[in-house]
Amino acid sequence: MSFPSVRMRRLRRSEPLRRMTRETRVSRDDLVYPLFVVEGSGVRESVASMPGVFRHSVDTLVHEAKEVRDLGIPAVILFGIPADKDARGSGADDPGGIIQRAVEAVKGAEPELCVVTDVCLCEYTDHGHCGLVEGETVANDASVERLAATALSHARAGADVVAPSDMMDGRVAAIRRVLDADGFEEIPILSYAAKFSSAYYGPFRDAAESAPAFGDRRAYQVDPPNAREALREMRLDLDEGADMLMVKPALPYLDVLTRARAEFDVPLAAYQVSGEYAMLHAAAERGWLDGERAMAEALVAIKRAGADLILTYAAKDVAASL
Ligand code: PBG
Ligand code: ZN
Repeated sequence: MSFPSVRMRRLRRSEPLRRMTRETRVSRDDLVYPLFVVEGSGVRESVASMPGVFRHSVDTLVHEAKEVRDLGIPAVILFGIPADKDARGSGADDPGGIIQRAVEAVKGAEPELCVVTDVCLCEYTDHGHCGLVEGETVANDASVERLAATALSHARAGADVVAPSDMMDGRVAAIRRVLDADGFEEIPILSYAAKFSSAYYGPFRDAAESAPAFGDRRAYQVDPPNAREALREMRLDLDEGADMLMVKPALPYLDVLTRARAEFDVPLAAYQVSGEYAMLHAAAERGWLDGERAMAEALVAIKRAGADLILTYAAKDVAASL
């Protein structure tokens, strides 16, 4: 059967019909809101390249967490930015460190809010790499040990989920091992498994002061043209014990998300990264597109491609508009 008996426009005629036949919806339940925490008190400084995004000190972070929960968003992911950095990223697993204090404060004030922590060294190292540097390279196995200690310190501080974003080989297994050995067998690992070496992280590196001082991350993050390799990363992380897998960035890698959806039964997360957010805001500011609609379209595309969870800097705006 085809035209004229078939008319696709029949079901598009009115908003009720469109609502009834809508295949994909973004809901509050899908959202994870990223937050940056810095030293000090009373701090709420805007990030120039990310309009509407702020860096909070622990005290103002707690207010922010309440707002997030009041909007019905189930989870936040926290990034710590320490005052002092060194070669081994000592602040990353310091029990009194910025992220550990932030987790304790947020969980203390908002026990219902799921607190995910980003596990990486790049915010804590003076060279800005995601692991330990030996000569010109990032040493895998020594880095894994530091990352596992970092994840454990987050769990001890009260994190509900740990999310390693470093892309070292074997880090998921190592994290699982130290968590289990310390009585944290119930803490899930959300692995940034398909994390590409992307230009879209630019604004984040300003916000987190984590740009590498030399070189780049191509020797550990996935090369953008490689989808099969990304799926292999995801498979390996599942074998190592990951409970959830992430694709990052989101919109430029929807094909990877769709392939992952077909292949894996675990919850899939997609990270709409800083550059994706900044692009939309920059264009909207110039009046070149309708920012709210463009954002909604990007997020529903990410969901349609197969994401269960979406990490997005727009989470509060979106939740408020739903
Ligand atoms: C740290 C980390 C990065 C992001 C999340 N965790 C940056 C990077 O790898 O350089 C990027 C998030 C964003 O751009 O919004 N490893
Ligand atoms: Zn990193």
